[in-house]
Amino acid sequence: MADDVPRGSSWEFHWGDSSFDDAADGRSGDDTGVLVAAPARTGAASVVGVGKVYRTATEQVNALVDVSKDFPRGRITAIAGPSGSGKTSLLRILACVDRPSAGSVLIEGGVVASLRVRQRRALRRSSVSYMFQNPIDNLLDYLPACDQVHLASRLRGIRTGRDEEQRLLGVLGLDHRLRHKPHQLSGGEQQRLAVACAVIGHPAIVIADEPTAELDSAAADRVLEAFRDLRTEGVAFVISSHDPRVVAVADHLLRLDHGRVVEST
Ligand SMILES: Nc1ncnc2c1ncn2[C@@H]1O[C@H](COP(=O)(O)OP(=O)(O)OP(=O)(O)O)[C@@H](O)[C@H]1O
Ligand SMILES: [Mg+2]
Repeated sequence: MADDVPRGSSWEFHWGDSSFDDAADGRSGDDTGVLVAAPARTGAASVVGVGKVYRTATEQVNALVDVSKDFPRGRITAIAGPSGSGKTSLLRILACVDRPSAGSVLIEGGVVASLRVRQRRALRRSSVSYMFQNPIDNLLDYLPACDQVHLASRLRGIRTGRDEEQRLLGVLGLDHRLRHKPHQLSGGEQQRLAVACAVIGHPAIVIADEPTAELDSAAADRVLEAFRDLRTEGVAFVISSHDPRVVAVADHLLRLDHGRVVEST
């Protein structure tokens, strides 16, 4: 992890070790594995027959049951469903921070479970962005907007120019806020800055868990517009929400109920 990413921040979640239980797969410390190519999947990411079972002291919860979906580049896929239907569980598995109990996750054609620890960490760093619901959780408090985007690209291992970073902030309507720190931005501006940080460096997939939930209606609309405007960047957006407006802007829909797919378009 880069030295300038504080421990305990959401950036550690993005860029540091994941909560993926590396020891449990018996591959820790062994870096000799090969990336297994998936035969017929060409999207940015896919889940195939994914199940997730949580076991507590008293019960077993089947949070996901046999969920399959491709997430194509340049498209927005909405993950909808009532509270407890498994949206966050699916997003965390797709982001490679949790392991499915059954089935596979593929990122850019590679089966995530076949990766060694370091390979998976490198994959998450280069190819996966995760946005939290609360805008401020996605940002570093002490950095101005333009430096947040610059750091995000550096952590992804890409050296983008300042021109490219400012172009992106311009597309998101933040060109007049380049030197503002997060606490000097509105919630909607913070979340659009988080979108810029998530998209810079062209990851395969940007995963956002209810990114409009903390925003008022106008700010939520502007954030959704930002996702729409950035489809041409070629990233697959996967956005969970209770908000019907998210479904309205999406190109594809996966609706869950009690962990099962009830609609897939
Ligand atoms: N770590 C866990 N241990 C045990 N059960 C869990 C755990 N995480 C989630 N669950 C259960 O799994 C189910 C799916 O939860 P999940 O958070 O994925 O739903 P969600 O669709 O994101 O809900 P919401 O819309 O309220 O955020 C729920 O019944 C939840 O209680
Ligand atoms: Mg959730």
